[in-house]
Amino acid sequence: PLFRTMFGLSELEEKIRRHFDLKQVVIVPGDSEASPRTKRELGRAGCQALRKALGKDDVVAVTGGSTLAQVANQFSSPTPLKSNWFVPARGGLGESLDYQANTIASTMAKRTGAQYRLLHVPDHLGEEAYLSLMQEPNVREIVEVIRSARIVVHGIGDAMVMARRRRVDDSVVEALKADGALAEAFGYYFDRNGSVVHKMLTAGLRLEDIMTTEVVIAVAGGRSKAEAIAAVMKFGHDDVLVTDEAAAKEIAALI
Ligand code: G3H
Repeated sequence: PLFRTMFGLSELEEKIRRHFDLKQVVIVPGDSEASPRTKRELGRAGCQALRKALGKDDVVAVTGGSTLAQVANQFSSPTPLKSNWFVPARGGLGESLDYQANTIASTMAKRTGAQYRLLHVPDHLGEEAYLSLMQEPNVREIVEVIRSARIVVHGIGDAMVMARRRRVDDSVVEALKADGALAEAFGYYFDRNGSVVHKMLTAGLRLEDIMTTEVVIAVAGGRSKAEAIAAVMKFGHDDVLVTDEAAAKEIAALI
């Protein structure tokens, strides 16, 4: 489209795509942090990227967050997606209801006539609680569906912003700072090199699942998220990045 050429966004997309060896980068004009309209556009572009990747019988795991909520609230399909499943990538991460992965998954399914399953399990589990929950046939069954997802759609956040929003213990926040945590995605924290500095036992998607997921789509924008986005791209398991002009310009300046 014309606006891409006008704003030079195509070159920016190609530069970022090549640097992080991604399959596709989509940049919407503007700064989603400053403009609700841009945030909506970011969500809409996320919908398009997902529709492009989606095939028959696919299971899609989604994370939470305000950006994914924008994807969910605009997700549509010309024909009902009867054979598709939407599931949350992780259990409850202490987000408000609107931003929880369960809410996002069920919204996306309901809007498109797809099926969904929810995971009603807190995410901060000790080993004992984790092991006993995983004995529950109901939990096991949904966890198996989650881990079989062919597509993952996720947000990216600034590590400290997300830790605060999720009311993570002070001791963990200190440990995250000491370890140089910069970014958060799918419940994991990453430093500037894209190394994982904090993980927790989870009934949802584990790092090893994400590493083998066929299509991983990140939707994240806003100037202040540039370093976080770059860190997760360095982790290196995303295929598609949907972002905005403000973040993309900062990312391009970093690489
Ligand atoms: O994992 C990252 C967060 O879910 C991003 O949340 O889209 O509200 O910034 P946000």
